[in-house]
Amino acid sequence: MPNSSSHEPKFPEACMAVSRQELVGLELRVHGGEIPKDLYGHVFIMGPVGTVGSRTEGLFYPGGTGASLYNGDGMVYRIDFDQKSKVSVNSRIVKTPCYYADLETTPGSKYANLSFFNLGMGRLSPVLGLRNELNTAFLPFKFLQDENWRMLVTWDAGRPYEIDPVSLETITPIGWNREWTEQILVWKTDPYPYVFGLNLTTAHPVFDVHTDQLFMVNWSRSLNTLQAPIIRHQINTLFKGDQIKKLEKTFRLFSQAASFLLRSESKDFVYLMCWDGSNQDIKKWQIVDSDGNSIKIEQSMHQMGLTRDYIVLMDTSFKFGIEQLIYDTVPNNQGIEDYRDILNYPQAPDTSLYLIRRADLKLDATAVKAKRVDIPREIAHFMTDYENPDGCITLHCAHNNGWDPAEWIHDYDAPADQPEKPIGHRFVGMTTGTTDINHLGKYVIEVESGQIRRKSILNDPRYTWATAIGTFNNTVLSAEHEDIYWISWGCWKELMTDFIHDLYASYKYRRIKLEEIKKISEEGKPSSLCRLNTKTMTITDGYQFPSGYFGNSPQFIPRSGSTSSSTDGYILCLVLFDELKSELWIFDAANLSNGPVCKLDHPDLKFGLTIHSTWIPSARSRVPGYYIPVDEDYITLINKQAPEVRDEIQELFQQVIYPNFSK
Ligand SMILES: [Fe+2]
Repeated sequence: MPNSSSHEPKFPEACMAVSRQELVGLELRVHGGEIPKDLYGHVFIMGPVGTVGSRTEGLFYPGGTGASLYNGDGMVYRIDFDQKSKVSVNSRIVKTPCYYADLETTPGSKYANLSFFNLGMGRLSPVLGLRNELNTAFLPFKFLQDENWRMLVTWDAGRPYEIDPVSLETITPIGWNREWTEQILVWKTDPYPYVFGLNLTTAHPVFDVHTDQLFMVNWSRSLNTLQAPIIRHQINTLFKGDQIKKLEKTFRLFSQAASFLLRSESKDFVYLMCWDGSNQDIKKWQIVDSDGNSIKIEQSMHQMGLTRDYIVLMDTSFKFGIEQLIYDTVPNNQGIEDYRDILNYPQAPDTSLYLIRRADLKLDATAVKAKRVDIPREIAHFMTDYENPDGCITLHCAHNNGWDPAEWIHDYDAPADQPEKPIGHRFVGMTTGTTDINHLGKYVIEVESGQIRRKSILNDPRYTWATAIGTFNNTVLSAEHEDIYWISWGCWKELMTDFIHDLYASYKYRRIKLEEIKKISEEGKPSSLCRLNTKTMTITDGYQFPSGYFGNSPQFIPRSGSTSSSTDGYILCLVLFDELKSELWIFDAANLSNGPVCKLDHPDLKFGLTIHSTWIPSARSRVPGYYIPVDEDYITLINKQAPEVRDEIQELFQQVIYPNFSK
């Protein structure tokens, strides 16, 4: 058993600390250098900040519920570099209609019987439905008729909304409720729809500035597709270990789970949606396989891609299944580990892509065929070159080998090196660590044949541990990517649980033995930032954060007057350390290894675990245009509610929700 050492890197508790306080013009202190004079524009950073039940400041869920940190309202931070020798921050929570419903239905309130509670990675009101928390990413876009940059806020489980880039107010969803089809939830047995239904989508929709089209997806899983990976995993593991005991336990728990699951009437579908910015209904095509059947998504569609002639869809490795929702439904978590053993499974080791010809997206078509291509190893994030010469697309990705960001630490988890000792509450909710070294990859795929023409993958023991998020100049469509900057979260002893260690023990593409990984996590691998040159597929520059520091949410900022070179700019990173420290570090993109050129901080900054970011050159107030009136959007759903709650729901909308939205 390893001895604790004062030199051992400690995962910073600052990752767990966040403030729900909205900031107005908070001027940051500069230290460790000077603000570069050619830094300009506005960086937007997104992060979950707990819910209405959390403290205003401090830990997400003190004394907690065991929910994932990804379950929380989205806080939009805008970092302004448009004032001379001064950098300031504004922030605002994304406030959808369900946010106001959550706020006004807390226990003890007038509408308490409609209240929400945490459900693992989601937040549910048994009467109203699931929160659309919009806490993951942005999409800046500008249609031909727009003079200014506009901004979407997104996540995987709800309609995207447009925000005002200046006031940061939440303005309108994209698509009416009637234009989105919800995932039927397994426990929903009555005939009344939720007013806040679960609309599965992608957290990374795409915008084509050349054709003035914004693409999204709306998808759902059938019960069979939901169960398939659970059953596969059980068959693979059933006869390992103590067979008789395991067999008995499996049948008992699986029959309980099946009686719960079999109520579902959900279907498999994937709709590709295309919005042209107008008030017309959004065009939709069902995506089908070569036999005309809907494609089936087992895990998620976290990211999609765009090229000149193709749309790239993917079954991404951020798995979202029933096991991500059940944890908080069992009183005192009694026997919850047994359910997790049965319902949970490792993410798929291979990744399925679905490639769609844009020429097939005709206005009169309702279904479009996709070509399926399978790539070895997991992918959650990727970029595509816009150009696709000779019918070949180029895809750049991070492979999350044996790293499952959809798993998080629970109260009852134990460290991998001390399985008999519960881990404690300090990091409950934090994503678990990686169980293997990750890879960076590049694939050239001929779409018509589905053949992978060229591929290159690499790993680096300094830089590819839990490789999380990549960045590049996001306001232009890169004809061919050249340099991509990847941040990796590192390998931390505190995030290596006994459960995740066992779940990935038989990982198909294991590069480093699990025993070795355990040792590496005990010694620790720091967070890092690296620059990948995609032409040579080599890491040409990099920086390892100091021991105990956590780097996250990297963002490329082009230098003012930049030549559009992929290294002519800066990389902003969010850096967390100690118990409460949140700083912004700025690197010269052409010289990461020299360390940050300056650091910015303020005692009121508490970012916690943020996710994605973006950059726009200028922020102007939104010009009124596309807008879905909240009352017209919800009236049909309200009228369909059960008679015993309909009047109360209608009053909630009229008294609380509608007054917060006016055109
Ligand atoms: Fe993402």
